[in-house]
Amino acid sequence: MKLLPVIFLLALTSATSALDNGLMRTPPMGWMSWERFRCNIDCENDPKNCISENLFRDMADRLAEDGWKEMGYDHVMIDDCWSSMLRDKDGRLQPDPQRFPGGIAKLARYLHDRGLKLGIYGDLGTHTCGGYPGTTLDKIETDAQTFASWGVDFLKLDGCYSNEEEQQKGYPLMSKALNATGRPIGYSCSWPAYRGGLPPSVNYTLLGEICNLWRNYDDIQDSWESVQDITDWFFDNQEILQPEAGPGRWNDPDMLIIGNFGLSVDQSRSQMALWAIMAAPLIMSNNLRTLSSEARAILQNRAAIAINQDPMGVQGRRLLQERSHIEVYWRPLSQSASALVFLSRRQDMPYRYHTSLAKFNYTAGSYEAYDVFTGKTLSGLSANTEFTVFINPSGVVMWYVYPKMHYEQPQDDGRYPYVRQKYRMSSSLRFHKPRVVPPSLL
Ligand code: GLA
Repeated sequence: MKLLPVIFLLALTSATSALDNGLMRTPPMGWMSWERFRCNIDCENDPKNCISENLFRDMADRLAEDGWKEMGYDHVMIDDCWSSMLRDKDGRLQPDPQRFPGGIAKLARYLHDRGLKLGIYGDLGTHTCGGYPGTTLDKIETDAQTFASWGVDFLKLDGCYSNEEEQQKGYPLMSKALNATGRPIGYSCSWPAYRGGLPPSVNYTLLGEICNLWRNYDDIQDSWESVQDITDWFFDNQEILQPEAGPGRWNDPDMLIIGNFGLSVDQSRSQMALWAIMAAPLIMSNNLRTLSSEARAILQNRAAIAINQDPMGVQGRRLLQERSHIEVYWRPLSQSASALVFLSRRQDMPYRYHTSLAKFNYTAGSYEAYDVFTGKTLSGLSANTEFTVFINPSGVVMWYVYPKMHYEQPQDDGRYPYVRQKYRMSSSLRFHKPRVVPPSLL
């Protein structure tokens, strides 16, 4: 048996049961405040960009009106620094009254009216990472009930200011408490990120049973260095991490920073492509009011999103790190399709990478490759056909590969005359003019 089918089978069989709340069968999508807006609470001097109900309403408007919701970006997630420094007289969390005068329930209604969902942030510990009131073990039930009563749809539970023992108790307890509210609430656990992200300190079997997603590693920052550091950590540890993902249970390499200040257009495509291969949550943290058309096009790329959201939910892998500093990533998709990403880690000039599908263990057959970022289709590809891709420095070429035979009816003798005819006729590969996304991606 070749390597890829084995990996594929392993991936399918070892992704065990997921948290039984029926949520997030594909990686969640949406927008979150932290990476771009941090803990800016200075609404007096920076009213547009401070953490306040206006910011979240504005982002909800953008998601609903600028085509994001239709693409699947349907969560608006409040990160740290939303709450008052004090709990109310009944011990419940409350939003900062100046910055959220309407309250969270009203904000949730605003979102729900627009077909969107509201996420909120909590922290298992004495304080949040930003120094706001945390959720100690005795407050778990109260906070779960409060969030549910506000109509919250998602909780990110951070882990600052708690120890190993408290985390061991608290993360499963919150999962139970959320379930007990009767409201479906997606649950993101930062637990592994506080325990080094790897076994034996991290028990991914347990995480899969209690959380819908989990932050495994460090926070993303607005730079290509940060994207590379995160990518390397996740793929260096793919033997451990890749089998743990599946419908309802996802590794989370952190937010998309596309549209901010740190990434070139090529690097933005690279982040989108790698996050799609990783089956990562697509949670943007950017300013949707002022996004460039390039950033928007990358984030709204239909094929990249369809690959990320593939219903089979198998996380992809890094196949190769060439001495030329080209890397190849692959993800199996439904309908016998797959995604390939060729990433250049070079810093000189576009590189001509010469290879064939057979080098990645594709079996004999006829394939088409849809180039996700140019919209062109390469046809007449057999496993052994040699081809060349031009990859920009710190950029990617991303392909959606699907078997040509998939769409053909076998003839009486069981052969595929169309394919044979095509082989005779085309002496070399041809790129067709840009055309619509292949039907299976829609
Ligand atoms: C931690 C988390 C970040 C963000 C901040 C908020 O660092 O990992 O994603 O939530 O806390 O303070």
